[in-house]
Amino acid sequence: MIKEFSLEEGRILAGRFTVTQFLGGGTEGEVYKVVEAHTNKERAIKLFYPHKNPGFKVSARYAKKLDKLRNSPLVLDYLSHEVLIIRREKVACLVSEFIQGEILGDFVYKQRGKKLGIFPAIHLLYTIVKGVESIHWHGEYHGDLHLDNIIIRRFGLEFDLSIIDFHHWGDSKKENREEDLVKAIRIFYDILGGAQKYNSLPKSIKYIICGLKRSLILSRFRTATDLRTHLETMDWSDAI
Ligand SMILES: Nc1ncnc2c1ncn2[C@@H]1O[C@H](COP(=O)(O)OP(=O)(O)O)[C@@H](O)[C@H]1O
Ligand SMILES: [Mg+2]
Repeated sequence: MIKEFSLEEGRILAGRFTVTQFLGGGTEGEVYKVVEAHTNKERAIKLFYPHKNPGFKVSARYAKKLDKLRNSPLVLDYLSHEVLIIRREKVACLVSEFIQGEILGDFVYKQRGKKLGIFPAIHLLYTIVKGVESIHWHGEYHGDLHLDNIIIRRFGLEFDLSIIDFHHWGDSKKENREEDLVKAIRIFYDILGGAQKYNSLPKSIKYIICGLKRSLILSRFRTATDLRTHLETMDWSDAI
């Protein structure tokens, strides 16, 4: 049983992808940067551990979810689902675009005070909430939103973000949508400096974070649309 792929650089997958870098690994599998033969395009390949992916159900579900979300603005572009042979085992993998950017957590950590200012933070939350709203509108959810599952490509007047690493949970879609919303607010709290800075935040910002109380958040913002509308119309003059 394969518990670790540990693919070396230069290895060829599916007869056409050359491994160039290990990008990350979790309990479900490993992600590699690869270069596609003939086109020289960089891609990301997520390989699923076979014992965590019986009948390729997990990987196929993930692929279908990404395919369904192909018109959602923040969702990484899915390319294909493949089955490879690694050490004589069938291994499913997902090929997607390679996102040239920086993990949001690393990006924030490099900023002065390891946090973002209030205006950029509101702006970033707004971008994330619009992306989440679109995912929910398509009848899906992310399932594991946090600072390390968002890649930031450009940080200017507009942000260019991508959300990666979707998950499937057995619970109801409504619960998962609510969880996405709570997690988006958690990201907002984190990029503003977390527990250390929370007390000194202006009222209009604390109104959104609700002290991270799930029930309070969900009574104030029932859906991502509620939160988006609030962000569009809120008075945050106390935050300047
Ligand atoms: N499409 C992609 N483009 C660029 N980097 C990626 C891509 N997918 C994953 N990564 C990198 O690989 C890491 C792990 O991928 P992820 O899908 O989050 O899997 P997991 O967290 O389950 O290990 C990410 O944190 C990111 O740095
Ligand atoms: Mg991840």
